[in-house]
Amino acid sequence: MANGKQKLELTWIGKDIRPKLEPRILIEDPAKSYHAGFRTVGSRGGENAENAGKQSPTSAASAPREDFFDNRLIFGDNLLALKALEQEFTGKIKCIYIDPPYNTGSAFTHYDDGIEHSLWLSLMRDRLELLRQLLSPDGSIWISIDDNEQAYLRVVMDEVFQRANFRACVTWQRKYSVSNNFQGIATICDYILVYSKSEAFQNNLLPRSRESIDRYANPDNDPRGPWKAVDYLNQATPEQRRNLCYPIVNPNTGEVINNTKKAWKYEPDAHRTHVEENRLWWGREGKNSVPALKLFLSEVRDGMTPHNWWPHDEVGHTDEAKKEGIAMFGATEVFDTPKPERLIHRILTLATNPGDWVLDSFAGSGTTGAVAHKMGRKWIMVELGEHCHTHIIPRLTKVIDGTDPGGITESVGWQGGGGFRYYRVGPSLLEKDRFGNLVISKEFNSAMLAEAICKLEGFIYAPSDTVYWQQGHSTETDFIFVTTQTLAREQLQKLSDEVGEGRSLLVMCGAFRAKSLEGFPNLTVKKIPKAVLAKCEWGHDDYSLEIKNLPMKTPYSEEAREPSSHTMKPRSKAERRASVQTPSLFEFSEGREGPQ
Ligand SMILES: C[S@@+](CC[C@H](N)C(=O)[O-])C[C@H]1O[C@@H](n2cnc3c(N)ncnc32)[C@H](O)[C@@H]1O
Repeated sequence: MANGKQKLELTWIGKDIRPKLEPRILIEDPAKSYHAGFRTVGSRGGENAENAGKQSPTSAASAPREDFFDNRLIFGDNLLALKALEQEFTGKIKCIYIDPPYNTGSAFTHYDDGIEHSLWLSLMRDRLELLRQLLSPDGSIWISIDDNEQAYLRVVMDEVFQRANFRACVTWQRKYSVSNNFQGIATICDYILVYSKSEAFQNNLLPRSRESIDRYANPDNDPRGPWKAVDYLNQATPEQRRNLCYPIVNPNTGEVINNTKKAWKYEPDAHRTHVEENRLWWGREGKNSVPALKLFLSEVRDGMTPHNWWPHDEVGHTDEAKKEGIAMFGATEVFDTPKPERLIHRILTLATNPGDWVLDSFAGSGTTGAVAHKMGRKWIMVELGEHCHTHIIPRLTKVIDGTDPGGITESVGWQGGGGFRYYRVGPSLLEKDRFGNLVISKEFNSAMLAEAICKLEGFIYAPSDTVYWQQGHSTETDFIFVTTQTLAREQLQKLSDEVGEGRSLLVMCGAFRAKSLEGFPNLTVKKIPKAVLAKCEWGHDDYSLEIKNLPMKTPYSEEAREPSSHTMKPRSKAERRASVQTPSLFEFSEGREGPQ
């Protein structure tokens, strides 16, 4: 320690290298999106049935369950997908659950696991930083991890989320038995690291278990309802707590009881109140030599305090998760490392309320989305593997149809409804031409280009149906217009006149012919792609954890069922793109006025 100010920090090879990510657009494929053919809005199924009549200090679980049709399934690398979500979802996600590859070195059927530690840490850190951005101020992130990287991940989490925001390291009993032949100390637990975005996070309580409720009874038919007896004696001796020593009279026998071995738990004033309120219990016969205090169920917190030991009988185990998968996909197609639905249900019970956004950027077989959906939460999932199509889509389709009887379906009373949109991460905006120059990718049409430039320039893509140059806005009076055309001075003049006073317009164009922009105080004119060249790294499509895709030396160098026809479906970006009259890349639409 050269100086006393050095901070506690985990370092690793390549820690300083950070990707300069391109904010990609997300492209919907309506043929892979899926929506229920019915609405159940206003019904009190799902979570509500489960929680009906309960009040929780921190939970809004009694709100009616709503159908959510705008859930999102994104196919692609999660780093690019998270970056793509940044503009719309920053500060909006209430709960993130991720179950990343544990870096165990084992080869799984559906994805690679086991990459060099430093690289794993870098890849995780980059994703965690983006995830943090997406969390709402009262949001939390829950990460499944095992012994291999738990300690390292926790230090990285301290760095990204701050140590003060550490909430718990939950131990989940994922296995219920150990082979007798196992040599050494068998591992039967995983961990779930829990961090909040800030101190504004408040977890919900757990619903009271039957066992806990059964501890309350009403042997004397007290009109205040079931109660349980609480010890009236203190652990301290009379010598230690003189102020808690006073005579108590048993009203049934007249016996006066003095403190001999122990002091009472309550001060004399509190005791007087207990007597006045008839809260002392002297046993069924009324003859006990020491009273107990009646604690009524109606007076205790409506819920149980969660703790960090989650046994398999409460939240499921890996076998249970496998069986859920087999029931869904059959024994041959089962996903290697699913989590049980009950485990995710516990997390979402603690961390969310109905209607909150839940995100899982390592979706696997889609457990998080399935559980969130059944609990009336909105969800976003990202998955890079082909099982996005072979497992997640069929699973969520069944959930939406109400034909998945497994997992938490019965316990939450799930009957179907809602839907999701399927997206893929869009291509890179710029590609190299045959001379090695960066040019706009041929995959981009005018609407895609406008959306991509909006993202790059920090504008919200919202093309006006009536005003061709209003393709996006940053404020109510600041707009953006994107075209690949070369604009002449007269065209700029026309734009400037239309924009008028009190408004401003950023014009992103292929080129412009005007010696100076004097005379157009309401216009800022920039050339594409030149104006955006330095903003990020282009053409980098895979930042994944898959070994085969990892660069060797410079990890982040530049080189390196039928489409839903249901009317209830909100208009998608893809549909807006198709319907909106955006000028084509190379010419203005017919009948429109504008630069030629
Ligand atoms: C342990 S599995 C998640 C299992 C999931 N919790 C479940 O219940 O099915 C991890 C998943 O992360 C995915 N994955 C790994 N790297 C990814 C990346 N860069 N982008 C998106 N998904 C990735 C893998 O393909 C794998 O499906």
